Amino acid sequence: MSGFGNLGHRLLGAVDTVLDRTVVPGYTKIGYGLRRLTWDRDDPHPGALVGKVAVVTGASSGLGVAAAEGLVRLGAVVHLVVRDLDKGRGVVSDLRGQVPGAEVHLHRCDVADLSSVRAFAASLRESVERVDVLVHNAGAMPPERSETADGHETALAVHVLGPVLMTELLRPMLAAAGTSRVVVVTSGGMYAQPLASDDPEFRRGRYSGATAYARTKRMQVALAPVLQERWAADGIALHTMHPGWADTPGVVTSLPTFHTVMGPLLRDASVGADTIVWLAATEPPPGGGLLWMDRAPRPEHYLRRTRESDDQRAALWAYVADALSLDP
Ligand SMILES: NC(=O)c1ccc[n+]([C@@H]2O[C@H](COP(=O)([O-])OP(=O)(O)OC[C@H]3O[C@@H](n4cnc5c(N)ncnc54)[C@H](OP(=O)(O)O)[C@@H]3O)[C@@H](O)[C@H]2O)c1
Repeated sequence: MSGFGNLGHRLLGAVDTVLDRTVVPGYTKIGYGLRRLTWDRDDPHPGALVGKVAVVTGASSGLGVAAAEGLVRLGAVVHLVVRDLDKGRGVVSDLRGQVPGAEVHLHRCDVADLSSVRAFAASLRESVERVDVLVHNAGAMPPERSETADGHETALAVHVLGPVLMTELLRPMLAAAGTSRVVVVTSGGMYAQPLASDDPEFRRGRYSGATAYARTKRMQVALAPVLQERWAADGIALHTMHPGWADTPGVVTSLPTFHTVMGPLLRDASVGADTIVWLAATEPPPGGGLLWMDRAPRPEHYLRRTRESDDQRAALWAYVADALSLDP
């Protein structure tokens, strides 16, 4: 147990809300350090994922590596999904060195390339019967507007189209687990963006990678209730989460100034990945369809101007379903 009395919990609950609304302290390691004072130290309990199978995308770097390590440490068999097999082999070797008895497997998949997602799902189906945990962590901030082989804007493909298709294709294996958990790693950057349901491919206006990134992270959050409803009958709980601000290779490359300014306050990758691992393993299983940060549900909007209507959400889902040839 955390060792805090009722008053301590109530006080830290209020502090938690203030941290969340004031962003900078809440998203850095300061917020995590304060919030964790209230958490049960045995949650998730050791061995929580023994006998479970987990799949992690973007497992060659940053939060993906940290999430994979957290899941392996809890006993899961972990399938690392990477687009660069050489990097992936290095992660496999590190994990086996750090966690004795770790069972990890390596797969190649470019999540932005729909044929690569189909090939990966087909090959996983041949070797694995069930998937208990699927973590959609792969993410990128394109330096300029680019399109995938399927003709989709890259951020949309990697953050929305690829993950939805992968989940659809793995649905029989997620269903075979009885109850399963899908975790989508989004970003607090989405708070600044409304849902771009009328221009999902960012064809209009001046393209910015940071805006495309935040727009598609907003799409992940907006689609969560739709997808939760779609997948609930298969026992799937879908969670979106944002990690706060963590020091990862992606931040160094895509946001160098931010990295320099915030450097000492940034979370380390394992702290950024904490809520991914917790959502995958905590008992009882949290209900799906919500946005989480530091083990608590968070608002989807802070600004009135970013709120979407049901029609906008439905329009985006119709676009995604059509792009993936799914029955809406
Ligand atoms: N770090 C933060 O503060 C922060 C904050 C908010 C949200 N996030 C989110 O957290 C997730 C992980 O980010 P990170 O900070 O750990 O960044 P990172 O170090 O750049 O890791 C990103 C991972 O995604 C992979 N990836 C990118 N495009 C891919 C594609 N098309 N197909 C397959 N894999 C692809 C990368 O593969 P390569 O190794 O081959 O490049 C890498 O493994 C992302 O979704 C990001 O948006 C991070």
